[in-house]
Amino acid sequence: MPTLSKRFSEICESPTMALNSTLARLKREGKDVVALGAGEPDFDTPAHIKAAAVAAIEAGFTKYTPAEGAMELREAVCRWMAEELQVQYKPRQVIITCGAKHAVYQGVLAVCDPGDEVILPAPYWVSYPEMIKLAGAKMVTVNPQPDRQLKITAEQLAAAITPRTRLLILNSPSNPSGAVYSRSELDRLVKVIHQAGLYVLSDEIYDKIVFDDAEFVSLAAYPEIREQLLLVNGVSKSFAMTGWRIGWIVGPEIVADAIKSYMSHSTSNPTSISQKAALQALNGDKSFIAEMHKAFSERRDYVQKRLNAMPGVRCFPPQGAFYAFPDISFYFGKQYKGQAIKTSMELCAFLLEHFGVAVVPGSAFGMEGHIRLSFATSLAVLEKALDRIEAGLLALE
Ligand SMILES: Cc1ncc(COP(=O)(O)O)c(C=O)c1O
Repeated sequence: MPTLSKRFSEICESPTMALNSTLARLKREGKDVVALGAGEPDFDTPAHIKAAAVAAIEAGFTKYTPAEGAMELREAVCRWMAEELQVQYKPRQVIITCGAKHAVYQGVLAVCDPGDEVILPAPYWVSYPEMIKLAGAKMVTVNPQPDRQLKITAEQLAAAITPRTRLLILNSPSNPSGAVYSRSELDRLVKVIHQAGLYVLSDEIYDKIVFDDAEFVSLAAYPEIREQLLLVNGVSKSFAMTGWRIGWIVGPEIVADAIKSYMSHSTSNPTSISQKAALQALNGDKSFIAEMHKAFSERRDYVQKRLNAMPGVRCFPPQGAFYAFPDISFYFGKQYKGQAIKTSMELCAFLLEHFGVAVVPGSAFGMEGHIRLSFATSLAVLEKALDRIEAGLLALE
């Protein structure tokens, strides 16, 4: 009987797949289900960006580009970083990838050998652990103190470092917690990163979605770790372009060159047409970002207010991204029709089956006791979903 490689047989499908199949069944049965699971803006891609893609097709820009992406797009990324982050990078250091997910994966593969340790603060985005596994590396999670808005401290980072530590993955604003590291928190983390000589992969895909007085600070602001820094970003979230699959990784030339070679033998270039669309996103009118931000901001206020008004639920105000990550552990041990709820997975299955609302269990993000709600959907849908969550929680005794 032919078997799979060890590498592939160890990969887990997303832990939310079981819930997805219940969701699909309920929909097939014609049940009214509201889903707050999506990790993508509900807005359409702006018209001028779509038009650039149509123009690219009509102009015949439909062939291979260099594996690392078209020069004009890599130059645009450098310009954008100079404007937004006041840092200078050369196009040679920029690799255009098939979405930010692909960029993170390339970064992990480029710097990690089997047996290396990768530090991952919890809660974390679901794909990081699998990417670390694919590289043969070992994930070392760091759990934040509960009162620190689910952020880790420099002391915790220092304590997790061993001679085998190769990489830290940092994601601010965070999926799933919405936490944003402040400048002073980053100052302290960077000291440890610098001293230890680790690589740090900073996934900054939610940089444009930051609320209230929270400030997005890129790790690019720290010249002392420049040679250790792999920056990941893309157009998926900021420009509502999830389906176009354009992201990038920016880093030291040695890393960028290696990723370029790898891409030349694996995916080759990301879609030429999408590259033209991304170029338009970076070079064109960006008023869309502010419009989308205003909508997210209203929704965030609403979701947070509703969640914190529910008995036993505690939710830090998300400072960025479009997720709320409330602590619902108060309900563990309570029952519905004689059936006890013991985990976030069971709570999500219960809410979906009996109250028609889909949210994601915290365990999928390495943090039990929480659920994740995406507010990348309309206020009307959010109201309906939160009514159902509230009714479901109140039905537990
Ligand atoms: C933290 C984080 N990084 C990366 C990605 C992937 O982005 P892309 O769609 O550009 O691959 C996501 C998408 O959900 C994300 O939440």
